[in-house]
Amino acid sequence: MDMQTDYLVIGSGIAGLSFAIEAAKSGTVAIVTKKEKMEGSTNYAQGGIASVLDPDDSFDLHISDTLESGDGLCSEEIVKMVVRDGPARIHELISMGVRFSRRADDKKHLDLGREGGHSKRRIVHTKDLTGHEVETILLDRAEENENIQIFENHMAIDLITKSKLIKRGIITSEASQTCWGAYVLDDETEQIKTFLARITVLATGGAGKVYLYTSNPDIATGDGVAVGYRAGVKVANMEFVQFHPTCLYHPLAKNFLISEAVRGEGGVLIDSKGNRFMEKYHPLKDLAFRDIVARSIDMELKKSGDECVYLDISQRSPDFIKDRFPHIYQTCLRFQIDISKDPIPVVPAAHYICGGLLTNENGLTNLDNLYAIGEVACTGLHGANRLASNSLLEALVLARRATISSSRQLEAKRGKSFPEAPKWDPGCATDSEEEVVVSHNWDEIRRFMWNYVGIVRTNKRLDRARRRVDIIQEEIKEYYWNFIVTKDLLELRNIALVAEIIISCASLRKESRGLHYNLDYPEKDDEHWRRDTVLWD
Ligand code: FAD
Ligand code: SIN
Repeated sequence: MDMQTDYLVIGSGIAGLSFAIEAAKSGTVAIVTKKEKMEGSTNYAQGGIASVLDPDDSFDLHISDTLESGDGLCSEEIVKMVVRDGPARIHELISMGVRFSRRADDKKHLDLGREGGHSKRRIVHTKDLTGHEVETILLDRAEENENIQIFENHMAIDLITKSKLIKRGIITSEASQTCWGAYVLDDETEQIKTFLARITVLATGGAGKVYLYTSNPDIATGDGVAVGYRAGVKVANMEFVQFHPTCLYHPLAKNFLISEAVRGEGGVLIDSKGNRFMEKYHPLKDLAFRDIVARSIDMELKKSGDECVYLDISQRSPDFIKDRFPHIYQTCLRFQIDISKDPIPVVPAAHYICGGLLTNENGLTNLDNLYAIGEVACTGLHGANRLASNSLLEALVLARRATISSSRQLEAKRGKSFPEAPKWDPGCATDSEEEVVVSHNWDEIRRFMWNYVGIVRTNKRLDRARRRVDIIQEEIKEYYWNFIVTKDLLELRNIALVAEIIISCASLRKESRGLHYNLDYPEKDDEHWRRDTVLWD
């Protein structure tokens, strides 16, 4: 089946939906999303959205907190722009129907939370279910819009680019590299469809599943980075993988996050003997920047040989805890942990990828007509370490800027016909009888990425990881061309490529900065390395 649309949006999280709702004012929008439409990191976001909404706060403070967290690698222009556009985007969400928590003593005011690295209370939230509230309202607005069609269980495989069309003799001359949409696997019918679009937007989220332990949902396999990179998009700063310090440590609790807001409301980290340890590592103690807290926990665990540390909020009243963190309270209770009395066992886990597809201030990549917004993008906001709750903010601001920019591009293209894209060519691929190869490789990648390319790296560990990923990449290539593609195989191909990119970026950066810590170069080297690591296929 061929589909033609003005805008093709790949992903239905905060970035994709925010873009789609605004873009639908100027054209038709098709959203493809690889599982159910709610499924993505946005739906699980807990802490909230950072923005300057209190008279006691200022843009300058939010800007300097973000720059400090980014450890010398943020783009100051982008930081200023995102911070200043923030309040307008929050008020827009409220006008769409998002119910952020209000102060108990004065319902006219938003209740602002605090998280690591923020010098002020500035996190708007809906208790500890912020992402679910925002995702639900954005989906409602998208679904009632006649110009928007949502295709669930549709997974983008690769972009349709000018070079692909030239290879098939369809376009003979055009000034720059252009994107014309994507090939998409319909996971229900197993058909591969061609979605032709004048503007394509990658809003595919993060890549936490490249690691064995992660806070991310299953969709986070780095597809956007892989798809973009294969098409010639520049990728930057992928060595900066953020490990969230506090994921619940329990054999049955798959990836459950304990929000940083718990520490913002007085929760403290303790070891198995009940001693606080963060004061040894940073003056901000439990509310230090995330890279520092995760690394400190890692060091404590290596020293003690324990399997986890603990987060204790039991000094706050049970009523406060149940009202402020109902989701965390109930979830922990299901695992027999009453957080109003018991310390919560926690460990760090891969949480957010600060790098991604390199874009300009409007979300535009180096491919004509191709935008990247949300976690998949690298705009320059986060630098070497993202400040807590700046991600949802970035997605909102960049989605708006991308709509303004792309709707102008669209205007100039109106009336022009689409190229005739070739149908997907399966070659002589057959059904595979060896699905075990996929699951085995998938497991191996996630393990060696955790062991060798995790919170603390060395040159030797990076080399080991590189050798393993090279072998797996070879195997995948062979498998990919011989067998009919499935969602699992496509995801494996993507996590393998993203793992390779992370290893390459980490090997290039010969210093320690922000989230990238290499024991062979333990110091920051501003003279040589105050710059992005950019890869380009
Ligand atoms: P997502 O919301 O992840 O959406 C990605 C979409 O792309 C999904 O619909 C997915 O199915 C789709 N997709 C992916 N690949 C394909 C493909 N090949 N084809 C088709 N569709 C595809 N940030 C904050 O700022 N504040 C917080 O409080 C916060 N809490 C968090 C808590 C958790 C547990 C997690 C995991 C993250 C949290 N973050 C938080 C980070 C933040 O939630 C994410 O960075 C943000 O939601 C990303 O939004 P997105 O729209 O870019 O991607
Ligand atoms: C959290 O609630 O701790 C997550 C916040 C974030 O990732 O920004």
